[in-house]
Amino acid sequence: MTTTAHGPAPYTAEQVWLPASERLTDWDDTFHDLLLGDDLRMEAFRAAVHEAVRPGAAVLDLGTGTGILAQWALEAGARTVYGIEFNADVLRTACERVAAAGHGERFRPVQGLSFDVELPERVDVVISEIMGNLADNEGFAAILADARRRFLAPGGAMLPRRVESYLVPVSAPRAHAQVRAGLPQDGGDAEQFAALLRARGARGPFDLYYDVVLPLDGHLAAPRVVRVYDLERPEPSATYRVPLVFTAQRDGVLSGFKGYFVATLSDTVALDISGDGIAERTASDSWKHCYLPIEQQVRLRRGDRVVLDFERTDSPDGPFRQGYRWEGQVISGGEVTARFAHTTA
Ligand SMILES: C[S@@+](CC[C@H](N)C(=O)[O-])C[C@H]1O[C@@H](n2cnc3c(N)ncnc32)[C@H](O)[C@@H]1O
Repeated sequence: MTTTAHGPAPYTAEQVWLPASERLTDWDDTFHDLLLGDDLRMEAFRAAVHEAVRPGAAVLDLGTGTGILAQWALEAGARTVYGIEFNADVLRTACERVAAAGHGERFRPVQGLSFDVELPERVDVVISEIMGNLADNEGFAAILADARRRFLAPGGAMLPRRVESYLVPVSAPRAHAQVRAGLPQDGGDAEQFAALLRARGARGPFDLYYDVVLPLDGHLAAPRVVRVYDLERPEPSATYRVPLVFTAQRDGVLSGFKGYFVATLSDTVALDISGDGIAERTASDSWKHCYLPIEQQVRLRRGDRVVLDFERTDSPDGPFRQGYRWEGQVISGGEVTARFAHTTA
């Protein structure tokens, strides 16, 4: 059994992990290994990079990490690939990777935060994989809007091109029990987890979201689109408040909401992380899903309505942080039967 940043693999559905997106600046080799072993992610990006990058193109790989997307772009015949990465250690790995693959002279590493760096030319394609499991939980919208404005040549392409985020009410009693017990897999013991919540200013374990594979058969209603990011056009603000109403399609216990994204990477390649097949590799090992728990689970009857007020705000703590608020009520037979209110802000 190998150990990953998200615990021993194979892991199981409904196992609860702390949100990796919230610790982005601390990612080490272990997390990058998890990314490189995530077949769903790797197959989609490999196909898309080979489709989008034409021989002779100038390419920016924003957040190049260990350089895997840059390597694929170079294999596709890119004239030059600029690899922007703020983490100097991981950028060294990228340089080693492309050099070992024989493409070292066409790779230009640029160490720094993308907002702070300049490139010597505009590029034909900006490739990036900087989405969180709710799409916008790593600040990708503002980062890619800045990249499109300052680095992309007129008529150039963004990869991904479009990203939609979704929420759906779910029944996930085993995940809920782990949150209630304050025992996510990587949260340490109960005391360490309580200290972590205090450091975040959270009132309790239900004022945080988690990384969890949430099975499709736990969906209690049809998923609803939260946000559409068309990355080749002027950006919609990543600060938003969205009212959503779901109608329960079956009886079940509401444990919270599952968030995920579907991305159009290139002309023919899409990446949908809603899947739950851990053994079949249709679930994403690195993203999993975003679990927004509610403290008091609610028994839903078919036809009940779940009314959700969902909000995202940018954080003063830097470009990768944000606050989410999920608040709402359950309406059954015209009566409000339950209310919930949680926030990470
Ligand atoms: C999810 S990893 C992907 C790494 C690599 N592209 C891959 O596909 O395996 C995202 C990487 O982008 C870097 N990153 C995210 N936003 C960035 C920014 N605005 N400027 C520079 N680096 C950034 C992070 O440090 C991290 O290494």
